[in-house]
Amino acid sequence: MCGIIGYIGSRKTTEVLLKGLYALEYRGYDSAGVAITDNKDLEIIRSVGRVSKLEEKIEKEKKVNSTFGIAHTRWATNGEANEKNAHPHKIGKVTLVHNGIIENADLIKEKLINEGYKFNSDTDSEVAAALLDKYLKENDTLEAIDKMTKDLTGSFAFGIIIDGENRLYALRKDSPLLIGVGEKENFLASDITAIISYTPKYVLLDVGEVAVLEDSSLKFYKEGKEIEKEILVSDSKGVDHSKNGYDHYMLKEIMEEPVVIKRLIERYNEEENRKELDLSEYKEIDIVACGSAMYAGLVGQNLLEEFAEIKVNVYPASEYRYKKKIYNTKTLVILVSQSGETADTIAAMREAQKLGIDTLGIVNNPDSTIARETSRKILTNAGVEIAVATTKAYILQVCVLAMMAFVSGEKKGLVKEDFSIFSELPKLIKEVQDRVEEYKKIAKDIYKKESCFFIGRGLDYALCMEGSLKLKEVSYLHSEAYQAGELKHGTISLVEEGMPVLCIITNKELKDKSISNLKETEARGAKGIVITTKDLDDFDEYEKIVVPESSQYIVSMLIVPALQLLSYYVALNRGCDIDKPRNLAKSVTVE
Ligand code: M6R
Repeated sequence: MCGIIGYIGSRKTTEVLLKGLYALEYRGYDSAGVAITDNKDLEIIRSVGRVSKLEEKIEKEKKVNSTFGIAHTRWATNGEANEKNAHPHKIGKVTLVHNGIIENADLIKEKLINEGYKFNSDTDSEVAAALLDKYLKENDTLEAIDKMTKDLTGSFAFGIIIDGENRLYALRKDSPLLIGVGEKENFLASDITAIISYTPKYVLLDVGEVAVLEDSSLKFYKEGKEIEKEILVSDSKGVDHSKNGYDHYMLKEIMEEPVVIKRLIERYNEEENRKELDLSEYKEIDIVACGSAMYAGLVGQNLLEEFAEIKVNVYPASEYRYKKKIYNTKTLVILVSQSGETADTIAAMREAQKLGIDTLGIVNNPDSTIARETSRKILTNAGVEIAVATTKAYILQVCVLAMMAFVSGEKKGLVKEDFSIFSELPKLIKEVQDRVEEYKKIAKDIYKKESCFFIGRGLDYALCMEGSLKLKEVSYLHSEAYQAGELKHGTISLVEEGMPVLCIITNKELKDKSISNLKETEARGAKGIVITTKDLDDFDEYEKIVVPESSQYIVSMLIVPALQLLSYYVALNRGCDIDKPRNLAKSVTVE
C-alpha cells in the first residue's frame, strides 16, 4: 500500500528518493511521484505505473538542483489511479505525500471550496494540503499542523514541505512512518527498508508527534513543545532484490521454503525455546488476521482443536475489531501477520489489549507495529517477501501454529509422536517442489478455464481457502473454496461442463466423504483433480497431485507448496504480472 520516503541532506535527492521508492515497491502501488526543491523552486513529477517510468520521466524533466524532497508510491483509495491523483499534492504553500484515508475529507473539502480553495485531484490527501495551507495563514507551522491534525479523522502519515522553509515535516496517526537518523542528513519513510542502505538508526513517531527534519538537526514536538525521542537501531538487512536466477520473486520465495522452515524449526528443536509455543493454559483462542494470514489461522484452528483440545475461533480482523467480544478469563488473542502493519489486525490487537486480554503476535517483520506492541510474539523470520502474494511467510505461519498445537497437546499428554517429525519438513517440502512438471501439466489443463472450485473437509477445507486465494490473486482465474459437503446446498448450481474441481484429501477418515462430493460435481460435468498424500492415493482415474506420506501435524505444509506452484504456473500461462498482481498491495495499511 502507499509508501512514503523523504530526504534532506547532501546526497543527490532524486537518487535517494528513487532508491527508497524501489525498496517500497513490494508494498504494491499503481502510481508514483516526487517533489524536489532547492528551497526556491519546487518541482513535482508524477507518473502512473512503475517507479521505473517515474525515473525515466525525472531524467527527462528534472530541472531543479534539489537539496531535499519527498516521494510516494500510491495505491488508489480515493480517486482512480491516474497522474492527477498521484502524490505529491501541492496547494498554496503546502506540498505533501500521504498514506492512509481521511474519512471526513468530503466535509472539509466542501468548506474549503466555499472559502475559495480549488482542487486538482479526487484525493482526500489534497484536502489535507489545503487545510494546512489555510491554517498556515494565521499560525506558525507547528500550530497549523496541530490544528490540521485535530480536524482530520481516519488514518494518516504525512511527509510535508512548506514553501520557503528549508526543512521537512513528518507526522502520523495509525499509518506507519519512521524517521531515519543520519550524519548531517535525515530521512522519513513508511518502513525501514526504504532507508536501511543509508542508516540503521531510526525514531518511531507516536500519534500527535511532529518531526522536523533539517540536514543537521532533527527535532520532535508534541502539542508545540519539544520532546526527546529514543533512537532505535534496526538489524534489518534490507531487501534482497536478487531473483537468484528465478523468473519471479514468487517462485524464488516458494523455493526458499525448505531453508526458512529449517531455520524456524531449529530454534524449537531446543526444548527450552518450545515453551514459547505452549498455549495449554488457555481455554479459548481467537485467531485474528486478514487474507492468507487468516487462512493460516484456519489451519491452526483445526490443529489446535484436534491435537491440543483448545477451542479456537478464527476471525477476519476487519470484522473482529467491530464485533462484540465475549472473552473468558483464559482467552488468548493471536494476531497473525506477515507485515505486522495490517491496519485491521493492528486495531484488533489494540482492542483486545484495551480489554486486558493476552495477545500473541505471529509476525514476519521484526520492526513492525505488531511485533513491537504485542505482549508476546513469535517471529517467523522468513526474510522480506517481495512478491505481493505471500508464500514463504504463509507456510511459516502455518508451521508456527502446527508447532503450537503439538507443544500444547504434548503438555496436556495428548501427543504420541516426537517433535522431531517437524525436522522432516525441509526434505519433504523439497520433494514436493521437485515435482514441477506435474504442476505445469495441470496448470496447462486449467489455465484457459473461467472458473474453478477447491473443495475439502476440515483441515483440507482450510487449505482450500488459501489454495483458492493464491490462484485468483496471481492468475485472475475465478475460484471458490467450499466445504466439500456444503457444495450441494446451492453452489453446485455453478458447476458446468469441464469446470475444474480440485479436491484436497489428507485425512483417511474423511477421504470417502470428500471423494463422494467430488463425484457429485463430476456427475454434473466437472473435471475432478485430486490433491492427496501417497498413503491415501488410489486415485489413478484422476489427474492428481500426490505429496509424500507424513504425520497429520505436518501434512498441511506439504500441500501448501504444491498449491502455490500450481497457482504460479497457471498465472504464467495466463501471462499475468505475477509479482505485482493488479489492484493488490502487499501491506494493507488502511481499513
Ligand atoms: O501482512 P499481513 O499478513 O497482515 O497481510 C494480510 C493479507 O493482506 C495478506 O495475507 C494477503 O491476503 C496476501 N496478499 C495473500 O497473498
